[in-house]
Amino acid sequence: MIVIPASREMQALALEHMRSGRRIGLVPTMGFLHEGHISLVRIAKEHSDLVVLTSFVNPTQFGPQEDFSRYPRDNERDDALCRQAGVDIVFRPSPHDIYGRDHSVYVDETSLSSGLCGRFRPGHFRGVVTIVAKLFNITMPHAAVFGRKDAQQARVIEQMARDLNFPVKIVVAPIVRESDGLAMSSRNAYLSPSERIRAAGIYASLLLVERLYADGVTETAVLVERLRSEIVSRAQPDEIQYVEAVDYGTLKPVDTVKDATLIAVAVKIGQTRLIDNILLLAGT
Ligand code: PAF
Repeated sequence: MIVIPASREMQALALEHMRSGRRIGLVPTMGFLHEGHISLVRIAKEHSDLVVLTSFVNPTQFGPQEDFSRYPRDNERDDALCRQAGVDIVFRPSPHDIYGRDHSVYVDETSLSSGLCGRFRPGHFRGVVTIVAKLFNITMPHAAVFGRKDAQQARVIEQMARDLNFPVKIVVAPIVRESDGLAMSSRNAYLSPSERIRAAGIYASLLLVERLYADGVTETAVLVERLRSEIVSRAQPDEIQYVEAVDYGTLKPVDTVKDATLIAVAVKIGQTRLIDNILLLAGT
């Protein structure tokens, strides 16, 4: 495994691999890896001949009041995990390498990114789409893998790849959970022991809604109301940002569960913002 710190070097190597017919599988991350990221590596291997994992805490996707400077970092541990998982290249550029002093071009998605997290994190998806577009150009992947925990992010990136004609297959991977159901996230490291226990209540509440749907409740107003009250009692969040039922394709609210309906939540437990979701499929 090699670690590459410069985009010029990374791009030259990616070009070389592409010209020799080797398909690159890309796993974009912000580092501080956990089992969820490693599952993305495993999936990337199924779609490629070599895996590039990018590790870059992207400043442009953080708002001024957000956790950019305290975002957890542990490069040594990350490299050991990558080696163990069979990653071929870790691309870990500096902010200066990615955003030179006079950087002035951004990529914006104007529909899917407006609701859900977009309402609470202005500019976030512009930062995400910009960095992912740059990473695609630097690493030239055949396939790129994103986790469904960030379902809106995955949909926005699918749209970006389609609308900007990136020749990349976007693979959306299942959510990986802790043994008590909490969706894995680097930000879980912020939770105190008591907050961590409350945080498990988010998935327990989502499971209850899944059961309600299995029992025949399809009206989303009923499902969302029940989810909200379960989250209040089980997770005791300090803030509920949203609890919504949206179509997984358009990310627009729906009245009844049809096709694929995403039930998505964002809450704060203490100072930590957590998101999670389940996908309800009509006819199942
Ligand atoms: O999901 C993440 O870790 C980030 O948003 C991503 C896709 C690596 C872009 O910085």
